[in-house]
Amino acid sequence: MGLTTHLGSRVLSLLNLSLFSLFFLVHSDSSSIDATVMLDLKQSLNNASSSLGWTDPDPCNWQYVNCSYDRRVTRIQIGNRNLTGFLPQNLGFLTALKSLNLSCNNLSGPLPSLDGLSSLQDLSLSNNSFSYIPADFFFNMTSLESLYLDNNPFSRWLLTDSIQAALNLRIFSANACNVTWIIPYNFGSHHRRLRILHLAFNDLQGGLPDSFMGSSIQSLKLNGQQSIYKLNGSIDVIQNMTQLTEIYLHSNNFMGTLPDISRLTRLKTFSVRDNNISGQVPASFVNLSSLKVVSLANNLLQGPTPKFNSNVTVDMNNGSNSFCLSDPGVACDPLVNTLLSIAESVGYPMVFAENWKGNDPCNAWFGLYCQNGNITAINFSNLHLTGTISANFSSITSLQILILANNNLAGSIPNDLTTLPNLIQVNVSNNQLSGTIPSFKSDVIVDTDGNPNVKKDSVPPLETYKSGSRYSIGVYVVLVIGCVCVFLFVGIMIYYLYWRKKKHSGDFHVIEAEHMVISIHVIRNATNNFGQENILGRGGFGTVYKGRLYDGTMIAVKRMESGVVSESGWDQFKTEIVVLSKVRHRHLVSLIGYCLDRNERLLVYEYMPQGTLSRHLFRWKEEGLKPLEWLKRLTIAVDVARGVEYLHGLADQSFIHRDLKPSNILLGDDMHAKVGDFGFVRLAPNGKSSVLTKLAGTFGYLAPEYAVTGKVTIKVDVFSFGVILMQLITGRKAVIELETEQDEFIGIVTWFHTIRMQKNTFHMAIDPTIDLDEEVLASINTVAELASQCCANKPSHRPDMSHTVNVLSGLVQHWKPSTSHCDEVFRSFGDVKSKDDSYIFPNERPQFTHITKNLDE
Ligand SMILES: *[C@@H]1O[C@H](CO)[C@@H](O)[C@H](O)[C@H]1NC(C)=O
Ligand SMILES: *[C@@H]1O[C@H](CO)[C@@H](O)[C@H](O)[C@H]1NC(C)=O
Ligand SMILES: *[C@@H]1O[C@H](CO)[C@@H](O)[C@H](O)[C@H]1NC(C)=O
Ligand SMILES: *[C@@H]1O[C@H](CO)[C@@H](O)[C@H](O)[C@H]1NC(C)=O
Ligand SMILES: *[C@@H]1O[C@H](CO)[C@@H](O)[C@H](O)[C@H]1NC(C)=O
Ligand SMILES: *[C@@H]1O[C@H](CO)[C@@H](O)[C@H](O)[C@H]1NC(C)=O
Ligand SMILES: *[C@@H]1O[C@H](CO)[C@@H](O)[C@H](O)[C@H]1NC(C)=O
Ligand SMILES: *[C@@H]1O[C@H](CO)[C@@H](O)[C@H](O)[C@H]1NC(C)=O
Ligand SMILES: *[C@@H]1O[C@H](CO)[C@@H](O)[C@H](O)[C@H]1NC(C)=O
Ligand SMILES: *[C@@H]1O[C@H](CO)[C@@H](O)[C@H](O)[C@H]1NC(C)=O
Ligand SMILES: *[C@@H]1O[C@H](CO)[C@@H](O)[C@H](O)[C@H]1NC(C)=O
Repeated sequence: MGLTTHLGSRVLSLLNLSLFSLFFLVHSDSSSIDATVMLDLKQSLNNASSSLGWTDPDPCNWQYVNCSYDRRVTRIQIGNRNLTGFLPQNLGFLTALKSLNLSCNNLSGPLPSLDGLSSLQDLSLSNNSFSYIPADFFFNMTSLESLYLDNNPFSRWLLTDSIQAALNLRIFSANACNVTWIIPYNFGSHHRRLRILHLAFNDLQGGLPDSFMGSSIQSLKLNGQQSIYKLNGSIDVIQNMTQLTEIYLHSNNFMGTLPDISRLTRLKTFSVRDNNISGQVPASFVNLSSLKVVSLANNLLQGPTPKFNSNVTVDMNNGSNSFCLSDPGVACDPLVNTLLSIAESVGYPMVFAENWKGNDPCNAWFGLYCQNGNITAINFSNLHLTGTISANFSSITSLQILILANNNLAGSIPNDLTTLPNLIQVNVSNNQLSGTIPSFKSDVIVDTDGNPNVKKDSVPPLETYKSGSRYSIGVYVVLVIGCVCVFLFVGIMIYYLYWRKKKHSGDFHVIEAEHMVISIHVIRNATNNFGQENILGRGGFGTVYKGRLYDGTMIAVKRMESGVVSESGWDQFKTEIVVLSKVRHRHLVSLIGYCLDRNERLLVYEYMPQGTLSRHLFRWKEEGLKPLEWLKRLTIAVDVARGVEYLHGLADQSFIHRDLKPSNILLGDDMHAKVGDFGFVRLAPNGKSSVLTKLAGTFGYLAPEYAVTGKVTIKVDVFSFGVILMQLITGRKAVIELETEQDEFIGIVTWFHTIRMQKNTFHMAIDPTIDLDEEVLASINTVAELASQCCANKPSHRPDMSHTVNVLSGLVQHWKPSTSHCDEVFRSFGDVKSKDDSYIFPNERPQFTHITKNLDE
């Protein structure tokens, strides 16, 4: 893994110890190691002997230094002593150190790795001139309770998951020290005791992580991020941060509405000035009796100016919000209230918040047209509105024309609209509305086109199909009968298999697969004695060769590295034989046989001519391939989902793959995919609860709970599958290099999550080789949503594979109206060597989807 070696070499180059001192450190007892380190520290601080009085040969006698009874150094308190100089690289060898305070000096140079300091509880390095904080800084600091890093000119650095190990963390203060990228999505979720989290004046972007919800943070300061995006998104999570006493969110790009803070009964200070918050100030703000300081200035707040108690300090700078009147507590005009309720039903979009000023909607408010002081027309078309159509439009009785076309409005068209006395025209076309069209008066022009789920109930549904189709009722009848037949056939087959399985029940052993043994001579012959020209690829286990059997069948042979057949390699070998001879599915690579011959351990698979998915996703250019089109990617995703679904549940036992990734997904000439490499598969215990295992799998694809605790459930595969979906969308590797000075890396999950929060930039994350049109974009968005669900932090929040199959196959169908339902049942049945490998019906028969779907309903 490139990442580890990269970090490793960095650590080594930083350590930079002379051989002698290394020798000394390795061969001394702990207290003399401490003494050596302390002398190095004294050396590297300028004038330590004079200004600190560190002259005694025994560091335990030095001022500001405390030792334990066994002469280990436990405390160093040299804050605010006008010190200059740097820290020695071996500081991390003080393994008994509990408290280190160096704050308020002018120390400089890079911070050494402190990853040996597993006893350290309090660390304060703030207000110095340190230039660099290493990526592995927090490794092993499991006892850490308070940490101050504020005001240091570090080069950009990331909050990494290594901080998760500090379970007792109470204080994390890192203001103004160049923390970059995002607050990790799970930050704080392990830190039940975290009280203070200060990350103000950094370089952060992205949103507030859900992990803040229900945390015990009392003081949260995130104000003044310097990045272009700043922190953004909604601030809703704070409604559940019931322990908060102060929260500073000012000078960012937060948007959405103010949440209900009635449960924050200890909150004293709330500062959200200089953001893009819209909507009305909830009553909970005015009613919260603990509140002392409120700062709301320079947002896009609407409705009446709130009237706070006189003992509350308010910085509201009224002119810079969009309140209807500047006098606190004075209600808005009823028409303004109506319009605000309409804005509420579409989430108070910025376009209204920015352009509806004052208390008179006829004074050039965006989207409204008036005659003689009455609103006669409303045009909210093409505003990307989401939400529903408010029934309160019906109280604008002067309204004649209502246009809401080309948005993403959902829900039904309110019946109340029919009561508008002056209505002439309603246009709600091209939204996502559903339900029936209310009965407007006959002279009203109603346009509801482009809403797939709106029922035009005047036309009987079968008629529409009939008129649009070249097929007669006779065809439908034949189809129904065909379906019934296939169901019957499948039923009989399932019964047969079940009966057969009962006969063969009992644990499976390698011995049972004896009929799969292939002689070494056959394999040597097929692969031209493992000829170089036949090598398909190499991995940690050994090499994979292409081969051709006597009868012309192409095979792939996995040859374990001879000599180094370790215990775990042998385990993987056995696992693979056991699993593969048990599970057979058209989307799992099938095992043809195996061979054990002295040192040789060989597995023989069906040959997949198009190679791995990673070849087509990441190396297409070098290999002279065409980039994958979106439909192909979708089809591959469905195939993989089906294979893994089968592993998880449809097979008679539940298996967990544990190493899903593009290089383990293989493609046939038809570009249909099969999941391969079952060396890490685990049998899930009955009931599918979690198993504790040694960590297997590949960095970047590991589910967080698995990486942290080693607990594995089928949801570990769902996570990896989510990563694969993200890769299909973005064409990126699982670990992404950020362009910081330290060449930081970040997992694709975190990266994807952040990009998606910035809705306007999401399209930039999409693989540039994908031809984007509206339909493709919609499809990608659905897959992106699914991918995020699959990569949820909590296993229980991730869907089952069957859900992913449903979503993805729905998309493929929608795309190229195709796969008949009957066919589907037949296929998921799991026959490997089906002759008909094409999913897609010929194009001239697209109506089938509709028909069969309809018959099912
Ligand atoms: C160290 O201290 C001496 C006297 O206390 C002073 O003359 C000298 O300038 C100091 N050196 C530094 C680098 O501060
Ligand atoms: C540390 O040593 C100083 C004397 O140098 C002493 O006054 C202080 O109480 C000690 N602190 C602890 C926590 O033992
Ligand atoms: C560190 O030392 C400085 C100066 O003595 C002091 O002001 C500060 O409170 C100390 N920090 C911690 C965390 O104890
Ligand atoms: C640090 O330097 C300032 C000014 O040079 C001086 O006033 C102060 O006493 C010094 N502090 C210590 C702890 O030596
Ligand atoms: C801190 O030290 C640096 C040199 O390492 C110097 O340029 C800077 O002026 C010093 N700052 C203060 C406040 O003494
Ligand atoms: C970190 O901790 C692990 C296990 O607790 C230990 O094996 C490793 O040596 C530690 N690293 C350092 C640098 O002390
Ligand atoms: C550290 O520096 C900041 C900014 O220069 C200052 O506001 C703060 O009071 C300092 N902290 C301490 C403990 O001196
Ligand atoms: C943050 O780090 C970058 C280099 O990584 C540097 O260019 C920039 O000046 C730093 N910013 C601050 C405020 O120290
Ligand atoms: C957050 O608070 C809302 C109500 O304010 C509640 O409905 C929701 O369940 C809470 N969520 C969590 C995770 O506590
Ligand atoms: C402010 O005054 C209100 C009523 O006048 C009272 O309920 C509340 O406790 C006071 N708040 C503070 C923080 O003093
Ligand atoms: C607005 O319309 C109402 C009737 O709908 C009418 O009575 C009123 O005069 C109109 N207002 C103006 C300013 O014309």
